[in-house]
Amino acid sequence: MILLPERLDHLLSRLGYCSRSEVRHWIREGRVTAEEGPVRPATRVHPEGVRIDGQPLDHPGPIYLVYYKEAGTVCAQGDPRSIYHDFPPRWSCRRPALSSVGRLDRDTSGILLLTDDGDWLHRWIHPRHQTPRQYRVHLAEPLVENAGVVLSSGNLQLEGDSKPCRPAGFLRCSDTEILLTLQEGRYHEVRRMMAALGNHVVALHRERFGPYGLKGLMPGEWRLLSLEEAGKEQECSGLPM
Ligand code: URA
Repeated sequence: MILLPERLDHLLSRLGYCSRSEVRHWIREGRVTAEEGPVRPATRVHPEGVRIDGQPLDHPGPIYLVYYKEAGTVCAQGDPRSIYHDFPPRWSCRRPALSSVGRLDRDTSGILLLTDDGDWLHRWIHPRHQTPRQYRVHLAEPLVENAGVVLSSGNLQLEGDSKPCRPAGFLRCSDTEILLTLQEGRYHEVRRMMAALGNHVVALHRERFGPYGLKGLMPGEWRLLSLEEAGKEQECSGLPM
């Protein structure tokens, strides 16, 4: 991805380095260099050529990543158990902010995508795309015999919802363990589906989201996606200025 030239003060503040007004001090202190030569806050610079204290900028382009959420953590910002504590502190000051693609409940573990690219985020959560999400579900009781028929019917109506659930893929691993594939992401959907079948979820783990899985990651770990993996390799436009 080719990043377009951008005002230095805008660039450093949107990446969370410092406020726009602090940029002047950073320049005066000799902390900032650019391939364009001596700079002022308003100088348009190529992000890849900027150095802070001799170091290249931390992800001047958009961020796409796969994260392994641990059970007991939350997707909201500002909570002591927030997943955002697992990312570099500077990222919490980036604009646009890093956001998760949908959410998982506190007690759910597994895959989450995170990005600061709003188009990419919407591409995955928009109902039109019916992105498959695969869950491993551990249940308190053996699942009823006809569960597969009910789950795949597209007729399962959850209390308080205006439409029935979309047909779900279902694989029985044991009496109390199933693999469930949903094509939508409603609030507490898996737990409510199992409750509608008279059961109770004791552990819930999301193994896959669209084409992405958790291979090589431990709870709390993340890995950046390449532009190719994110399906962004064709784009050569920069970020808005
Ligand atoms: N369904 C749930 O019930 N919880 C989640 O976290 C995700 C899907």
